[in-house]
Amino acid sequence: MKYNFDEEVNRKGTNSVKWDNLKNIFGRDDIIPLWVADTDFKAPIEVIEGIKKRADHGVFGYTFRGSSYNESVKNWLKRRHQWEIEREWITFSPGIVPALSTCVNTFTNPGDKVIIQSPIYPPFRSVVEGNGRKIIDNELAFKNNRYCMDLENLKRQIFKSNGEFDYKVKMLILCSPHNPTGRVWEKNELLELGKICYENNIIIVSDEIHSDIVYKNHKHIPIASLSEELKNSTITCISPSKSFSLAGLASSAIIIPNKKLLNLFNASLDTAHIAGGNIFGNIALEEAYNNGDDYLDELILYLEDNLNYCIDYFNEKIPQIKPLRPESTYLVWLDCSKLGLEDKELMNFFINKAKVGVNPGSSFSKKYKDFVRLNIGCTKKTLKEALYRIEKAVKEVIR
Ligand SMILES: Cc1ncc(COP(=O)(O)O)c(C=O)c1O
Repeated sequence: MKYNFDEEVNRKGTNSVKWDNLKNIFGRDDIIPLWVADTDFKAPIEVIEGIKKRADHGVFGYTFRGSSYNESVKNWLKRRHQWEIEREWITFSPGIVPALSTCVNTFTNPGDKVIIQSPIYPPFRSVVEGNGRKIIDNELAFKNNRYCMDLENLKRQIFKSNGEFDYKVKMLILCSPHNPTGRVWEKNELLELGKICYENNIIIVSDEIHSDIVYKNHKHIPIASLSEELKNSTITCISPSKSFSLAGLASSAIIIPNKKLLNLFNASLDTAHIAGGNIFGNIALEEAYNNGDDYLDELILYLEDNLNYCIDYFNEKIPQIKPLRPESTYLVWLDCSKLGLEDKELMNFFINKAKVGVNPGSSFSKKYKDFVRLNIGCTKKTLKEALYRIEKAVKEVIR
């Protein structure tokens, strides 16, 4: 192993949302933070050196992205996901959520409807509603211990009783792989969903931020790579932020093969004057995509080990909490229904009894009040301590 993911990095005092914002979020700061989706690992040395080298230059004036930025994105997608794209399809966003919001604003009008599939990463809902659009929630179904898309239900929601398509439905925001369930969508699922969309002129915005961390026996497929129709109706959003500890550097790549959609998206970036990005974010993206393969391969192995440890621990020592094994992401969706606690009570249990910070299931969908999301993107030592605390707290509750 070239990288030491066991290294304990003290993140306190760095304005880290995950570590330094605990009092605001959870009301106390003596908890182990396994909530917001970033990892506690140092970025690859190549990224750190690249940033240092540029910092040594000392002048940080206005910047733009050089052609090497697009080259690194193109090569990464080809190497890691076997998707051949053109440099000209690539544009930028200072983060994926800003890209989702830009897409909603650029390609739909107030009052239009946007499809999401809950339980879902909360900003999917807020970028739609916050921009005055309406949600169509095609809730995921749970079958054979796996979440799946309910496409019959989707059709029922987008076609009126007389069979006519609801022309207000303009966009689908797809989470691929999916947060919080960890599903890696399979080819047939994507094709079926894609067909419904392009037959009805629904633009797909595919958030593929988690696509680089995929576990054994699963394969991420960019939906835009599946056909000419899907290529022309999809906006794909990727970023090295989740995999390489770069979320605070705010640089993401947006791939829009359809020239008309690309021009409209770029016009929105120009209107907001956010097209250039920042010097360090752009360098970090390039370094990660050009030189991050070994880091990522080792990270996936480390996370898989954490995951096995976590799943075994719950199954053997905390059977009252049922973990769902994710196929991607370092996020574990925990079914806590056997504890008989919901929402505030459940959060009170995790924060004040176990002293572990998690995300409430209700923030992903009101239906999931007895679930929480646990982030295992931490050192094994931290994970072990957190699981031990949860075990102890469960024993106290059910005594
Ligand atoms: C599915 C998904 N999209 C986007 C983001 C955040 O992206 P960004 O920080 O680039 O806005 C996250 C972070 O957890 C996420 O899980």
